[in-house]
Amino acid sequence: MTTAFIGQPISRVDGRQKVTGQATYAAEFDQPNQAYAAIVGSTIAAGRIASIEAAAAERAPGTIAVLTHHNAPKLAYAPHKGFTDPEVGERLHILQNDKVSHQGQPIALVIADSLEQASHAAMLVRIIYAPETGTTDVTRVAPVPPTQQKTDQGATQPPEIQRGNPQEALAAAEVSVGQTYVHPRENHNPIEMHATIAAWEGDRLTLWDKSQWVHGVTDEIAAVFGIPGENIHVVSPFVGGAFGSGLRTWPHVTLAALGARVTGRPVKLMLSRREMYYGVGYRPHTVQRVALAAARDGRLTAIMHEGYQETSTYEEFSEALLNASRFLYSCPNVYTRHRIVPMNVHTPTYMRAPGEASGIFALESAMDELAVALNIDPVELRLRNEPEQDEFKKLPFSSRSTQECYRVAADRFGWSRRTPEPRSMRDGRFLIGWGMATATYPMNFAPASALARLLPDGTAEVASAASDMGPGTWTSMTQVAAEALGLPIERVKFSLGDNRLPKTPPHGGSMTMASVGSAVQAACRKVRDGVLARSGGTDIAEAMGRLTEPFEATAEVKPGDTGQRFSTHAFGAVFVEVAVDPDLGETRVRHIIGAYGAGRIINPKMTRSQCIGGMIGGIGMALMEHSVVDARNGRVPNANLAEYPVPVHADTPPVMEAIFVEEHDPHINPLGAKGVGEIAMVGVAPAIANAIFHATGKRIRELPITPDKLL
Ligand code: MOS
Repeated sequence: MTTAFIGQPISRVDGRQKVTGQATYAAEFDQPNQAYAAIVGSTIAAGRIASIEAAAAERAPGTIAVLTHHNAPKLAYAPHKGFTDPEVGERLHILQNDKVSHQGQPIALVIADSLEQASHAAMLVRIIYAPETGTTDVTRVAPVPPTQQKTDQGATQPPEIQRGNPQEALAAAEVSVGQTYVHPRENHNPIEMHATIAAWEGDRLTLWDKSQWVHGVTDEIAAVFGIPGENIHVVSPFVGGAFGSGLRTWPHVTLAALGARVTGRPVKLMLSRREMYYGVGYRPHTVQRVALAAARDGRLTAIMHEGYQETSTYEEFSEALLNASRFLYSCPNVYTRHRIVPMNVHTPTYMRAPGEASGIFALESAMDELAVALNIDPVELRLRNEPEQDEFKKLPFSSRSTQECYRVAADRFGWSRRTPEPRSMRDGRFLIGWGMATATYPMNFAPASALARLLPDGTAEVASAASDMGPGTWTSMTQVAAEALGLPIERVKFSLGDNRLPKTPPHGGSMTMASVGSAVQAACRKVRDGVLARSGGTDIAEAMGRLTEPFEATAEVKPGDTGQRFSTHAFGAVFVEVAVDPDLGETRVRHIIGAYGAGRIINPKMTRSQCIGGMIGGIGMALMEHSVVDARNGRVPNANLAEYPVPVHADTPPVMEAIFVEEHDPHINPLGAKGVGEIAMVGVAPAIANAIFHATGKRIRELPITPDKLL
């Protein structure tokens, strides 16, 4: 009997359900007598609704109700800030007044007997606007300091930070580089669009919702409707990708609940692909300036990193863009300054590897430019600036395997065969480029709880309110539970995605394994110890055999003072090969190798999948993704998957490898896992940009690197 499951490449316990269509996603929980809702979105970005005429829509076949700010019930909108809500500002109050704050803002909701009828009637709602001057052009507004900036671990810090005297060091530098790096707005494009089915029974509400945080939905909807959270049941067992869009509870959830309340019927509201660009956040358009100074030997003497990003007029979303620049390398003089640009857009949010993916694109592009200016190998330059400790926090790293990652990945890649001169490597008519970048992401660990129940039939039920948006939470938690219980994996049934289960933090920020995993382990150990103590034996199966009724335990884990004693991050190194067509300007990524020091790897098969997913996300960021914003009105003309390309199989290289270096970190959390969800994407875009420079001699500082930029 095998009971050592941690570290095994176990296949997904829910894989069969998923590939046979048995897994039920939010929009598939159809209810008896269900009605359908369609959103009428604003076609201006700023102003007021002068008049709204719903009579034709109300008369249309099948229409049950048309809600506007004139007739929608007044909602409580009690003050509430969840973990993933911006700390400054106030969320949109939907259908509560005539104000329009962004393009696509829901200004009416049609509920009808069928989706077709609802969609048709939505087109019949006539609106006259009183537009106001606003802006949706990030280049037209002076960036302003945010009230505060979130750190990578959720705390806040001043938007401007300095150590030493970077200005002086830059002026006196032997070698320096200084450039501006830009990436556009990018939208989450999971396969499954956001959807909610809402049903009221008296004053109790059930929400089948696509979410990365069922307790976040509970708390937000309780605040919006002014009802106790206990009255709300949130069900979200399967999530078809999310990448951060499911971390907050967006207006469509409120709309579904409102529609159900007004009509007295269950209501389904599913966003269209187009609506996904106007209501569930996005990675904000970001402009960054990085200046680096170094001595001739490559030792950094100054890092200056300033960045600004778009946000809405009503909330300050302030991303942890500049964190890594403060600790990734050893440098006595560092300055970082964060700015925001409030505009008539909807609030951006966390998108895969928030902060680091964007910030490190700029920093690691600049490091490559510095390596060229110094004529030092890019890996060597990084090795020469390896810090002894986190020089910003003045704390030791709990563990840091960067040097091992550079070495292992470079060896595997064959980096020593690289000829440094741009345009010096070819394959037939293609220009070949090799580039690399460093990756890092914080180890996040937040309070989490779990329940473990042993049954007389020899099986165990383990549960936690966590989510699984794709990384394999169902499976990894089953592994952790089986190992802690000492039971065969087939005898353990894990449940998640329901707010009646023990509380967990948001399924994001790469913290699920560390937080929920540690809670599952603690609950299982507790119940195991409990049942063994009762039976006085040492054999769990035997002890369970003596049970006459279920025996259960719950446990909660919390981070201790590790954060005060250590700087806790995962680190990695990414190496890529590109082939650029010199005539067409097209870039193909041919090879990606990432090496990561991410603590304990619970399931190497799924962790590899996670990393490959992140690398593919990085290819999208580097070469394809761009939510074009019409500067006149905030419209996104390419709000669809035909014109917002994301990488498909044909765009991904035949070889993508993820290597996990051996790393034992006793400080971070009980499980010793750092998480890989985000770090897998970090560093990929700059490694590709650096490889393109090596291939072509062209330094492209604005993503995505489309063929026009290389011709
Ligand atoms: Mo990830 S942006 O934390 O879902």
